[in-house]
Amino acid sequence: MKIIKAKDYEQMSRMAANILSAQVIMKPDCVLGLATGSTPIGTYNQLIEWYKKGDIDFSGITTVNLDEYKGLSPENDQSYRYFMNTHLFDHVNIDKSRTFVPDGLEADSAKACSDYDQIIADCGGIDLQLLGLGNNGHIGFNEPADAFAKGTHCVRLTQSTIDANARFFASLDEVPREAYTMGIGTIMLAKKIVVVVNGSGKADIVKKAFFGPITPQVPASILQLHSDVTVVGDAEALSAL
Ligand code: GLP
Repeated sequence: MKIIKAKDYEQMSRMAANILSAQVIMKPDCVLGLATGSTPIGTYNQLIEWYKKGDIDFSGITTVNLDEYKGLSPENDQSYRYFMNTHLFDHVNIDKSRTFVPDGLEADSAKACSDYDQIIADCGGIDLQLLGLGNNGHIGFNEPADAFAKGTHCVRLTQSTIDANARFFASLDEVPREAYTMGIGTIMLAKKIVVVVNGSGKADIVKKAFFGPITPQVPASILQLHSDVTVVGDAEALSAL
């Protein structure tokens, strides 16, 4: 595992964007696994800036997102499909039909999950997966659990995640209680993984996840077993190391 220390959020975002853009330049038809949350927004902004300068071409790439709230439509401004459109896809020359997010409107969880696993398999797997880190160590929406989940599954969000994500919704009651998420097994099959973390609020969980015991109670801890993980963090997030 490589740990890259950035001085602040802007530098963290540029460094992560550099890794993603190198991936796209080296393999223009690659499959990128993408993440939502506030942390990667700066990374996406940087990629958009470089695209506008003519430095990156997204026309050949495919993307698969980690997760989606169950019950939210793509038009709902809190859905992760909406997030990806507004924070990246609408601003670059990506073929939207090659961008995938679990179908939040599919009420049949088993079908939503097996369809998404099939999509990922049809893409041929993920070349580079971008991850954020939840306050409780979750990745995607893989919450602390008794075991690591392999494939896409429906999760009941923990109260701490519901509380953390409430800041994006009009009220706590509007935060969906369930989500579809790519499994830990699928994330671990990505050839490369880049984790972005910022802020002092993540310092303790960064230490636990990347230097503590490997346990499904801290889902990100499994990343210690992956052969190509780069954590790009700002000084605050890495301050407990
Ligand atoms: C959500 C997402 C995760 C993300 C996490 C952290 O729960 N499902 O993929 O990593 O939030 O979000 P933030 O980057 O806003 O701290």
